[in-house]
Amino acid sequence: MYIGADYYPEHWPRNRWETDARLMKKAGFNVVRLAEFSWVMLEPEEGRFEFDWLDDAINVLGRQGISVILGTPTAVMPAWLARKYPNALAVQNTGQRIVWGLRKNNCFTNGAYRLLSERITRAMAGHYHNNPRVIGWQTDNEINGPHCYCDTCRAEWQDWLRARYGSLQTLNQAWGTHFWGHFYQTWGEIQTPTHEHHNPSACLDWRRFNSWLNIRFQHEQVVVLRSLCPRHFITHNFMAFGTTQTNPHDLAMDLDVAAWDNYPVWADPEIKYGAACGADLVRSLKKKNFWIMEQTAGGGGWDVLNRNPRPGEIRNIALQQVAHGADAMVWFRWRTCTAGREQYWHGILGHDGKPGRRYRECTATARDLHKLAPLLANTTLKPKVAIVYDQDSRWAFETQRSYKNNEVPAAIRRYYDAFFRAGINVDIIRPSDPLTGYKIIVAPELFVLPDATASKLCDFVRAGGVLLTDLRTGVMTETCLAHTHTLPGLLTDMLGITIEEYEGLNGDKQTYPLAGTDAFPGTFTSTLYADWIKPGQAEVLARYDAWHLKSHAALTRHRHGKGTGYYLGTIAAEPAFYDALIKAVLDSAKLKPVLAPPPGIEITLREGASRKLLFIINHLEQAVTMKVPAGNVELLSGRRTGPSLTLDRYGAAVIRLK
Ligand code: GAL
Repeated sequence: MYIGADYYPEHWPRNRWETDARLMKKAGFNVVRLAEFSWVMLEPEEGRFEFDWLDDAINVLGRQGISVILGTPTAVMPAWLARKYPNALAVQNTGQRIVWGLRKNNCFTNGAYRLLSERITRAMAGHYHNNPRVIGWQTDNEINGPHCYCDTCRAEWQDWLRARYGSLQTLNQAWGTHFWGHFYQTWGEIQTPTHEHHNPSACLDWRRFNSWLNIRFQHEQVVVLRSLCPRHFITHNFMAFGTTQTNPHDLAMDLDVAAWDNYPVWADPEIKYGAACGADLVRSLKKKNFWIMEQTAGGGGWDVLNRNPRPGEIRNIALQQVAHGADAMVWFRWRTCTAGREQYWHGILGHDGKPGRRYRECTATARDLHKLAPLLANTTLKPKVAIVYDQDSRWAFETQRSYKNNEVPAAIRRYYDAFFRAGINVDIIRPSDPLTGYKIIVAPELFVLPDATASKLCDFVRAGGVLLTDLRTGVMTETCLAHTHTLPGLLTDMLGITIEEYEGLNGDKQTYPLAGTDAFPGTFTSTLYADWIKPGQAEVLARYDAWHLKSHAALTRHRHGKGTGYYLGTIAAEPAFYDALIKAVLDSAKLKPVLAPPPGIEITLREGASRKLLFIINHLEQAVTMKVPAGNVELLSGRRTGPSLTLDRYGAAVIRLK
């Protein structure tokens, strides 16, 4: 198993490198990621490359048995590049060019920038393809824009639209440009949408176009790396749900393995639902296990300091990621930097470079992970539940939220967290992914719903699947025109309902009491949004307790073919509502967890051909005793399990099931 840190030898005197490498080896590390921000050190002037310092660093690390992943260093262009080719800097929506001095400030259509990024990639690949220490590449760093509004981008945008729509007539229809008299008569008239109130169809395509630019940029590097370094793997460090500039599923297509950057200790001690959900998305990108390329090792912050991982928490969040399919653990960063914007972003070592508590905890964690590694090999999660994440819908909501603070990741989390509490593992798939093998599909807020996806969901239910979908689903066509059918459109027969009216509920004063029926007992609160559902054929599970909505439903269930379709038309304030709903959905699918976890405990199952590994993670700051399957081996302690097990605060157990 690869375990290590993100290392910046260029920040430290050479006579320190040896000490760092020895400390890494002592900690059980066998990999580092290097160089992703060092373009100017590798190419101090255009066309002159200097690899000596990086060769030296790789040699020093190599002598301690440490392998290397190299980042293509294109996330920060050298100052000389910006000076010589000022158009390489992106133009903001105000028309002003970004001032050099941050990261990710490039224009993706600028020829000089693309050429030079391809050239530094080629030079590095040519230099390191035979280096026995180098095992793989990370493309750029957290590829995520920016949107650029320069003339070249505008011209490419017009070309992209021409290729997509073929004729202006088709584009005018697709975007509904009769509204406000925005009809285009030449391609050159089409603007880059600089304002959120531009035509929503244009805004959605603009986001698709920009994502495509990001992916093309990565592809140009991938082509070079594949041809020069056929033995190396190629990955990228995703931000899971943390950015909307690039469609992560599309970006992952060019890669061998997905990696992600996990920074979960922002808030008070908390259950790490977000880190689990991010991991499930990243695992689902390639339908296989993933790397952690940056994992919090200390308190972060660019201005105000965030909280430190508590004792035990570094191990807790590392084991959580492994429990979700991480096959490598790289901590960010080896040593806290003394200069620059991230002086507060604490690594394993502090500014003083002395190994302390965090170093000891990473060392102990590495020991545990190496111990588990042989049994983890060829195991992964095999969920029977998938949540659909639709990037198009997320983009469409960016310019038309529909209700206050609506965010697709938050919509996903309403259900995700309830599955987590129920001890059920999930994949997070894109709408075009196959649904075979899943018993339950949750499709939250599929605002942009092409007919093909709607039909696929209906087929899934007809064949025996359980579907849960909800508000704002099926409202828009692929080009963000409102569908003209009564909602929920093509899902109507399957869900057994119609929705003629709906409303946003603006704030705390506008809520409805939500009353469960006998089949779904309890009282809850409907917030933010309400579909006025006409139940038709469907069974009503909850209603709005309001004088004008007596004949409408808020939550319904309908048998269709061999399966069941659930529809929720609102957002309940209470997590208990979602727990009850997910329980009902699981019952409909006759699905049960391996064991029902007590509050604050997370469970996952990694399975291989001949073994099942049950991960149990305590996210609480107190010890928890719980029932477990007796007579198995707990792999971290090597002990046989009795009928119950006590997990320390932030503790974990990995039980090999017979
Ligand atoms: C990540 C980024 C790193 C570092 C870290 C802490 O998103 O990839 O380079 O900036 O955040 O801010």
